[in-house]
Amino acid sequence: MSDKTTGLIHHPYTPPEGFAAPQPGVFKASTVFFPNVAAMRSREWKDKTGYTYGLHGTPTSYLLEERLATLEGGAQCLLVPSGLAAIATVALSLLKSGDEVLLPDNAYGPSKALANGELKDWGITHQCYDPMDPQDLARRIGPRTKLVWLEAAGSVTMEFPDLREQLRICRAAGVLCALDNTWGAGLAFNAFELGDGQGVDISIHALTKYPSGGGDVLMGSIVTRDPQLHIRLKLTHMRLGLGVGMNDVEAVLRALPSMVLRYREHDRTARALARWCQGRREVAQVLHPALPGAPGHAHWQALCGAEEGKAAGLFSVIFHERHSAAQVDAFCDALRLFRLGYSWGGPTSLVVPYELAGMRQGWPAHLARGTLVRFSTGLEAVEDLQADLAQALDALA
Ligand SMILES: Cc1ncc(COP(=O)(O)O)c(C=O)c1O
Repeated sequence: MSDKTTGLIHHPYTPPEGFAAPQPGVFKASTVFFPNVAAMRSREWKDKTGYTYGLHGTPTSYLLEERLATLEGGAQCLLVPSGLAAIATVALSLLKSGDEVLLPDNAYGPSKALANGELKDWGITHQCYDPMDPQDLARRIGPRTKLVWLEAAGSVTMEFPDLREQLRICRAAGVLCALDNTWGAGLAFNAFELGDGQGVDISIHALTKYPSGGGDVLMGSIVTRDPQLHIRLKLTHMRLGLGVGMNDVEAVLRALPSMVLRYREHDRTARALARWCQGRREVAQVLHPALPGAPGHAHWQALCGAEEGKAAGLFSVIFHERHSAAQVDAFCDALRLFRLGYSWGGPTSLVVPYELAGMRQGWPAHLARGTLVRFSTGLEAVEDLQADLAQALDALA
């Protein structure tokens, strides 16, 4: 090389092959090299037989996609920058002006906001159905319905719907069914085999929660079993220019092997604390699908079984109406280990007070009146978390 700069870029050394270690290498790229023009022209970005451009994947992202598809019992996977981006990509891919999408009334809030915002502006209507009444879903499906979202358990209020019946209704109507599977994480139940050979068409997952597990990564996945549906979604994914950073992909790959253990521990702690909260006089209702009497408990038990590791580390409590919203805010402020913050699935326990009245079409009959607080359990010792709840509840009294 006549120039040192060129020599630094086009260096002849290649490392020996055969390196093996527990974690895969991290391949980062925008540009991908082709050996010749013929290869450049013929390489297909839609399948995973080669590499064309970083946006369409590197060995690192292919690996995570395959592991997630396997985890969820699907066949194909797309990675997107967040769980919400997964929800939006599905909507943008499958809906056009004049179509309608149905959402459970307890859906993840920003999913409803998307329907009320961009989708509405683009002439796509939506209705919210009662997640606990499959017949309400059946009644709302019409000729313009092109997509039904399912969520189990529901965000914030934790109702576990009759997923099998909801799916049967969608199948009978010939409507595509997408599940927000963040809560189940591919561990509590198998979204693609819900019984009687039935499964959802699409499972999205906020990898931000349990798969990454550190509270430090944002990513989402879209898993399918039908290659044609996958290609439809992939074309939208490509046209929207969605990509993920390979350092983040590596962080998820690193955390995946411990996910089952972490999920079980989050679950064990949440159930213990939820049961303990049931005995507190300040609390009118505890919402966790594993608690007998909680909304949808029987559906959860029928689908997931009762053992530990089959529920996420989330539960909500509704305080007795005698406690004002301001007092409940003060309770949240008084917590020391439970930190105020959104998301879940990381090492730190989190708490968020919600104003339920503005989130639902009406106050559901199965929920007590009062101020709702949602807890997500981290990986701290359960007795320390219980002591934290106790000191903040005692201050409330
Ligand atoms: C049920 C559910 N789905 C999707 C998301 C969106 O995930 P992200 O924060 O990665 O956009 C969240 C986030 O809290 C969620 O709780």
